[in-house]
Amino acid sequence: VQWSAEEKDLLNQIWGKVDIGVIGGETLGGLLVVYPWTQRLFGHFGNLSSPSAVMGNPRVKAHGKKVLTSLSDAIKNPDGVKATFSKLSELHCDKLHVDPENFKLLGNILLIVLASHFGKDFTPAAHAAFQKLTNVVAHALTRQYH
Ligand code: HEM
Repeated sequence: VQWSAEEKDLLNQIWGKVDIGVIGGETLGGLLVVYPWTQRLFGHFGNLSSPSAVMGNPRVKAHGKKVLTSLSDAIKNPDGVKATFSKLSELHCDKLHVDPENFKLLGNILLIVLASHFGKDFTPAAHAAFQKLTNVVAHALTRQYH
């Protein structure tokens, strides 16, 4: 995958304004609400019994922040995503048994959360750059699956 200077700029412009605690919590929370079967993997996170319980759950927020912190590594180095996510791919396959389809679902929720926060600043070009990034990350996370 090739990244143009424009795409890298767009990623950095938006990401520079992202509060990863807020956006991360809304993204993981959104995944758990919109695709409730994903809750099975987070049973140990406590109360996920309603959308407001999910969105207010401190462990969902904290874990969402962790996921977005690792996405920051992809934005810092979009050309190195395969290597960056190799260990995490192993973890999600061997230890966590996460169906890789869920990586795409999470990526799509992130786009929606970004659009809802940034409105007109989340231009079609920015959307395209982020969609490309979430697809590249989702693919990298499946590479160690067997
Ligand atoms: C754990 C990243 C998508 C389920 C983690 C950790 C990171 C991470 C950094 C912590 C690893 C550690 O503690 O060493 C990501 C990234 C994703 C992604 C970057 C996609 C962009 C998903 C999805 C699911 C999932 C879609 C399930 C629907 C889990 C679970 C854990 C975990 C269950 C362990 C949580 C815990 O018990 O603390 N992930 N993840 N991940 N991830 Fe993901």
